[in-house]
Amino acid sequence: MAKIHIEDKHCFEAQGDISLLEELEAQNLDVNYSCRSGFCGACKATVVKGDVEHLESSMCKLAKDEILTCCSKAMGDIELSFKEKVNIFQSAYALNI
Ligand code: FES
Repeated sequence: MAKIHIEDKHCFEAQGDISLLEELEAQNLDVNYSCRSGFCGACKATVVKGDVEHLESSMCKLAKDEILTCCSKAMGDIELSFKEKVNIFQSAYALNI
């Protein structure tokens, strides 16, 4: 099973049959999103290592190493980086990574 790394601060095993945005949400990671369909760019992430499968075409301008997490899924182990901080909610407490 593929592992998804968020920078070098968080790592989890991917479920594999859902988008990266859904993978992040399943881990209670508080990530940006809006349209969930490739239009707004709010879910943009940088792929540091690894490959993704694009589930839908992006309507946003992306740099070569950028993806939309709502429209991509992991193809093996990957490392993602986000411009915005990602919050990990653990019980009632939020830790910034
Ligand atoms: S949430 Fe809008 S492009 Fe992904």
